[in-house]
Amino acid sequence: MSKTAILEIDGKKYEFPVIKGSENEEAININKLRDLTGAITIDPGYKNSGSCTSGITFLDGELGILRYRGYAIEDLADNANFLEVSYLLIFGELPTAAQLQQFETDIRKHSLVNEEMKGIIDGFPKTAHPMGVLAALTSALTAFNPKSVNVENEKELYQAVCKTMGKFLVIATWTYRKSMGYPLNYYDNTKGYVENFMNLMFALPTEPYKLSSVVTEALDKLFILHADHEQNCSTSTVRMVGSSHAGLFASISAGVSALWGPLHGGANQAVLEMLEEIHQNGGDTEKYLAKAKDKNDPFRLMGFGHRVYKNFDPRAKIIKKAANEVLGTLGVDDPILEIAKKLEAAALEDEYFKARNLYPNVDFYSGIIYRALGIPTDMFTVMFAIGRLPGWIAQWKEMRENKEPIGRPRQVYTGSPLREFKKPV
Ligand code: CMC
Repeated sequence: MSKTAILEIDGKKYEFPVIKGSENEEAININKLRDLTGAITIDPGYKNSGSCTSGITFLDGELGILRYRGYAIEDLADNANFLEVSYLLIFGELPTAAQLQQFETDIRKHSLVNEEMKGIIDGFPKTAHPMGVLAALTSALTAFNPKSVNVENEKELYQAVCKTMGKFLVIATWTYRKSMGYPLNYYDNTKGYVENFMNLMFALPTEPYKLSSVVTEALDKLFILHADHEQNCSTSTVRMVGSSHAGLFASISAGVSALWGPLHGGANQAVLEMLEEIHQNGGDTEKYLAKAKDKNDPFRLMGFGHRVYKNFDPRAKIIKKAANEVLGTLGVDDPILEIAKKLEAAALEDEYFKARNLYPNVDFYSGIIYRALGIPTDMFTVMFAIGRLPGWIAQWKEMRENKEPIGRPRQVYTGSPLREFKKPV
């Protein structure tokens, strides 16, 4: 017999079905709650509320498990490349060699960005944060791609996916080129996606650009680890915006803005700035640990804690190992890595952090790798956005294909009761 949940209000009992996910997670389906009882539920920050059912990513925060479409993140990070993982997330299955090649070709075909976009970029001051510029440019792409995607047309949807993957990568790097005053680069059709990223970022017309495989492999891994994370803040934003049937570029642009905040993707930049500050102040990690524990101090240990992971973040484990390997292979001796390790060790032994299950998250070590690869600090969150793009697309597509209703939460009003209009004197 299927499970139900009983709710009692004023002595009257109501029964609600309990649904089960494929990994046995349970949820009480309350979609008839208001009709039956007149009441709603309230759950700020959605700590206990599921917004959808989804077949894309499985995450168990207690056990530290993360899987995309059933594949363990550790397996994918070791054996797949970023475009294979993107295809898997978006279309549900790993691509065959022919499908992957076609996907790469189609992304290349759509990577050209309308030249008029350059005029828009010129309107930004050089000092603008790249995430703000990226959100605006992504939104501006709607002007050049005004036709809304018919999600029931497989070919059209596939084309929209390739367009988004191609153009987003190019404009993401243009935010950096603009800030440096460099000429804007174009996608090179002879190179792979991740190689293209580095080329778009760093190649100059005055000299040949040589790229080491250590760099592309490290980036591939980092992008894979960021590629999806079920209903996080930016992904929920993308689904919410898309639920009004706003287009893919408009929805992704909103996701970029949501990602920018320091409690979400902006944490990777904040972590590095924090580590640099500790380094400049003599490396006193204890002082910063004490600040993080002080309830009168707004300072938080950036890169620590997670809404869902209450054991460890499996991505952080992989990234820590990769940071050691990349810095070792590139021969980079960065004192910041030692400070990060010292801070982590001290926090893991500290009662405050232990009691609250605060562990390093994906952002704690990623910045150290980006820095070793020559990525400027204020581009770190853009890196996160490039990695998260296939996840956003997959979630948007699933939401539309499942014909989810427009997202429209309710509220409990706590303002003034009806009052008579009188002009203040
Ligand atoms: N440093 C110090 N104390 C912390 C931290 C931290 N980094 N994170 C949480 N706490 C404390 C918090 O003060 C609270 O203490 P108390 O119970 O005494 O009031 C308790 O731990 C629970 O915190 P919370 O804010 O209720 O937890 P949350 O689930 O709402 O927030 C979080 C999760 C990630 C926003 C938070 O841990 C945080 O602000 N971390 C630092 C920012 C960061 O690294 N963000 C990246 C998240 S992972 C990548 C991503 O998804 O974007």
